[in-house]
Amino acid sequence: MVEVFGEPDANLREVLISQVDLTEKVGQLGDQITRDYQGKSPLLVAVLKGAYPFLADLARCIDLPVEIDFMAVASYGSATKTSGVVRLVKDLEIDISNRDVIIVEDIVDSGLTLSFLQKNLMTRAPRSIEVCALLIKQGLQKTKLDIRYSGFTIPPDFVVGYGLDVDQKYRNLPMVCTYKSATGN
Ligand code: IMP
Ligand code: MG
Repeated sequence: MVEVFGEPDANLREVLISQVDLTEKVGQLGDQITRDYQGKSPLLVAVLKGAYPFLADLARCIDLPVEIDFMAVASYGSATKTSGVVRLVKDLEIDISNRDVIIVEDIVDSGLTLSFLQKNLMTRAPRSIEVCALLIKQGLQKTKLDIRYSGFTIPPDFVVGYGLDVDQKYRNLPMVCTYKSATGN
């Protein structure tokens, strides 16, 4: 059990990734992007809502004049299982033609969301598209994905915190926790 908001929470099994480890990893990803995009001004496209803390921290670790925009897609309902259907809920405001785009994702599970986004953005003629995903769930990807920057590979359990939710809750935890037992999902 993990203690959050001043009391033990029976829904949280353990801390999977601590705040310290998140900070260190996000710093490393920012450094890599800074090196790889020298002389460029990449556009960070974050996927709402889950990627908001990752985007905020990552952007401040990139020593380049980045721009930021948001998209929202729906793939999960409020449950912990994917519906397999991805729908665009909010589109970009910035024209990405001829831009170096980096898709910033919280977590890649089946990979359906990411491949939907990649295909969708590709049609808009960007100069380049890469992906920066904080968490990759082990072995669950249905299609082969090209992820240039990735943070942590994690077991295929449901996790919350650092942007990730169950029914919109736990997004503000500063660490990533495993949610309930494998059978309790
Ligand atoms: P995918 O399309 O199956 O790769 O699912 C990606 C999306 O599902 C992510 O952007 C999250 O919003 C959500 N998701 C997947 N796994 C988890 C999890 O363990 N906790 C919270 N949200 C998750
Ligand atoms: Mg979600």
